[in-house]
Amino acid sequence: MKEKILLTRNIHDFALKELRKKFQVEIHKGKIPISQKILESKIKEVDGLICFPYDKIDKEIMQLAKKLKVISTYSVGYDHIDTQFAKENKIRVGYTPEVLTDATANMAFALLLDVLRRISEGDRIIRKGQWKQIYGAYDYVGLDLHGKTLGIMGLGRIGKILAKRAKAFDMKIIYHNRKQISKTEEKKIGVKYTTFKKLISQSDIISIHVPHTKETNQIFNMKIFRKMKNTAFLINTSRGKVINEKDLAIALKQKIIAGAGLDVFETEPINKNHPFLKLENIVLAPHIGSSTKETRSKMSEITIKNLILGMSGKKPIYSIGY
Ligand code: DGY
Repeated sequence: MKEKILLTRNIHDFALKELRKKFQVEIHKGKIPISQKILESKIKEVDGLICFPYDKIDKEIMQLAKKLKVISTYSVGYDHIDTQFAKENKIRVGYTPEVLTDATANMAFALLLDVLRRISEGDRIIRKGQWKQIYGAYDYVGLDLHGKTLGIMGLGRIGKILAKRAKAFDMKIIYHNRKQISKTEEKKIGVKYTTFKKLISQSDIISIHVPHTKETNQIFNMKIFRKMKNTAFLINTSRGKVINEKDLAIALKQKIIAGAGLDVFETEPINKNHPFLKLENIVLAPHIGSSTKETRSKMSEITIKNLILGMSGKKPIYSIGY
């Protein structure tokens, strides 16, 4: 009998076709995300799992999964999976870095351009029929990018590509990372290492590219916003939980900082009463960092490759822990 794979959501047809050749495949068709209750009942029978960033694959779920060999997530982020517990229990975990690096870096840069040049704000003005005057010295003015200092928080794959984009726009680039990269690489990319404290106080724009961990949870909060320039902007395409959203809404409203561009949120989709929705100096995107036709298709390809390798006892192409 074929081994059983559960997908908590659909992926591309070509990938499903491949999976069905080897496994018995079940795709969750109900409400998304799958409820913990349904997941708990299904996981017991499953040999492999394909999941998404909003599925909570914790210790409790894995303890129920007596046959589970592989968890393959359709994402680069894996903060939704208890990878330590998976490792201890010899459950392989696959994820999808690299293929989404460019798309996500481009998204960060798009948010940066949008918020500095007030594109979405202008779009709202036109749609509401409020475009009354044209081409004045003070009308709808945004900011130049060239000469501005971009602070990259977390210079991993995505941060490095963002640096490349920013360099093409003649920006100065500083970064903070757990570990400083080599001087040779710094020179090649055109970036300068700095402390977190200096990154916060010297950047005109800060773009966040760190994973969500215990250490980075709400690392951007009022204390930090008060140390940023009041002309500074914050961009986030990593995970919503690295920002204290309540503090950010106040900081934007009171102009403690100038603006923000966010692709990720503490809870997604955001609530219709969320304070961000009343602010003009913020650009919001519905978690689309990796969402290009090409990238999402490659993510499907890697997700199933990771799963298939793990099911045959091999290490996934991209794996965490075991
Ligand atoms: C990821 O892969 O973790 C991204 O957040 C999806 O866009």
